[in-house]
Amino acid sequence: MCGIFAYLNYQVPRTRKEIFETLVKGLQRLEYRGYDSAGVAVDGPNKTTQDLNNNSICLIKKKGKVKALDEEIYQKDTVDLDETLSTHFGLAHTRWATHGEPSALNSHPHRSDKNNEFVVIHNGIITNYKELKKYLINKGYEFESETDTEVIPKLIKYLYDNQENDSITFSKLVERVIQQLEGAFALVFKSRHYPGEAVSTRRGSPLLIGVRSEHEPPAEHIAVQYNSGHLREEIEEKNSHNSSNSNGEGKAVEYYFASDASAIIEHTNKVLYLEDDDIAVVKGGALSIHRLNRQAGDDPVRAIQTLQMEMQQIMKGNFEAFMQKEIFEQPESVVNTMRGRICFDTNKVILGGLKDHLKEIKRCRRLIMIGCGTSFHAAVATRQILEELTELPVMVELASDFLDRSTPVFRDDVCFFISQSGETADTLMALRYCKERGALTVGITNTVGSSICRETDCGVHINAGPEIGVASTKAYTSQFVSLIMFSLMLSEDRLSLQARRLSIINALKDLPELIRKVLSLDDKIKAIADELYQQRSLLVMGRGYNYATCLEGALKIKEITYMHSEGILAGELKHGPLALIDKDMPVIMILMRDGCYTKCQNALQQVTARSGRPIILCSQDDSEVIKNAYKTIELPETVDCLQGILSVIPLQLLSFHLAVLRGYDVDCPRNLAKSVTVE
Ligand code: M6R
Repeated sequence: MCGIFAYLNYQVPRTRKEIFETLVKGLQRLEYRGYDSAGVAVDGPNKTTQDLNNNSICLIKKKGKVKALDEEIYQKDTVDLDETLSTHFGLAHTRWATHGEPSALNSHPHRSDKNNEFVVIHNGIITNYKELKKYLINKGYEFESETDTEVIPKLIKYLYDNQENDSITFSKLVERVIQQLEGAFALVFKSRHYPGEAVSTRRGSPLLIGVRSEHEPPAEHIAVQYNSGHLREEIEEKNSHNSSNSNGEGKAVEYYFASDASAIIEHTNKVLYLEDDDIAVVKGGALSIHRLNRQAGDDPVRAIQTLQMEMQQIMKGNFEAFMQKEIFEQPESVVNTMRGRICFDTNKVILGGLKDHLKEIKRCRRLIMIGCGTSFHAAVATRQILEELTELPVMVELASDFLDRSTPVFRDDVCFFISQSGETADTLMALRYCKERGALTVGITNTVGSSICRETDCGVHINAGPEIGVASTKAYTSQFVSLIMFSLMLSEDRLSLQARRLSIINALKDLPELIRKVLSLDDKIKAIADELYQQRSLLVMGRGYNYATCLEGALKIKEITYMHSEGILAGELKHGPLALIDKDMPVIMILMRDGCYTKCQNALQQVTARSGRPIILCSQDDSEVIKNAYKTIELPETVDCLQGILSVIPLQLLSFHLAVLRGYDVDCPRNLAKSVTVE
């Protein structure tokens, strides 16, 4: 998904080389989101185009990796790298193609005209771009790319060229632009008419601003300025004389704009998350937030939060890939998910974010669990125990399908939105759909300040730590644990369920140790990968509590190894998939000593009777299964409803090793993005 990074230094002297380094580093931190081209915009007389005006803006764009852009910056002698600029605003962007092929021309920043009067970077999609483009072409504006984004710089120039008098402010222009836009966007604007000034805004796509000041801590809150018509100009006029409402006008300060905190955290931990339709303006070193009108329920201030994220949390350490690091972090990440929520002495489970809504949840008609991809699988994995412990009907829904069906939702439904990023467009749309129908909405997210976090009525932060690899691993097990904790909290006063609850709580206590034992099987799993990596297909079969592991394992395999892989419910074997089985088709079976043991053994016999050679994930020392297997991975046992956490890890590791052996980029699989912010 596109990544935005921008850097403004006010009264902080930086050479242009240092500015480039900051911009490129910001883009590198966003690489995990997935992209196919990158670009930057800086001030400066452009030696190659002979645009030697000091206010001119220089664009450098390149198809491919950020590294290629970095090389381009230094190879092409475009601008003076050694010049020191005490105040400067630079833009940087990684593009993930949606409209038009990956190319330098289609990549961002996009510009208003050949003189680069206005340039913009965008994350999201403009759905009415065709109408706007037609209108602007009629007005004589020439387009050079195939993107939806390009209408934005053209539109702002059109508004600038047609202003009534010559005094329109930059933020007013942006306000007028976004009134014309439909779709989702986070935007950062720069203009040669407003040097040193930054204007950014968002609707539906995330955007945050980091603030760093060497001399004094940033303000804790920024008051929102509600402006309409000329009142707006009056306020801005006042602000230019009086900085009381802004963040330290005139003082040395740096601002970082980004799609997520991983690009900012090495510079500052003070960040402000923009709300939909906020317009953030940095002018004369002061940050102010503007909105057109005040709506009922609007928060009139934006807090500058202190992020707890550490830089080392997002670095790869000694691992080959972020995905591998994240798989091995799971003994700690599940502990972080449980920390402060389960008291193992009293067997109490309290999810602080839900406790005020407990009564309402208990009285509800049904629970609807909604997500996409891996997050959906976390719902599948926990559905059975949720049904058992809450005694409520539980629906699990893929967000896109849920919306396609216009599923009936009622005021007494409780809808869960499960999302690592908290920004997945389909899940977010489903959330808004359920909210409109009056249901209670609960977020299960890993990203503080994300849209799902902010828009749900209540929720649980899974605390898995930043997940950088596109393939979701530790977020899955933490989502799993969070939903288990929810079922435990809801059943606390059910006497008949106490023995069951206790067995689960005890098993949760032992979980980190058991995860470590599974991780110690890595060499054995690697040996299996050595045998399988040249295969075209891989089936993963199981049922009951382990069915979700089959779906999730198959998703991991196809996502990063590009092998065909299918998660098969063993109960469905005879209804079609059995036809695939022969001596050459690799099959992984999950066959644990649980309620489905006998039925799974039947499936195993069906497979071996057709000369299949199953690799079986089974309980330790299960001689009955071991003797019928081609190969086994013996797993430690836990309570049935948590076994899926232990059985998924070998498949995470297997997919990782297969991808490495096949020579693929594990963290950035082709065609995929970490955070899917378009429908
Ligand atoms: O951020 P989310 O959890 O909402 O993302 C949902 C899916 O896009 C995501 O889980 C995807 O399936 C993973 N890349 C799979 O590993």
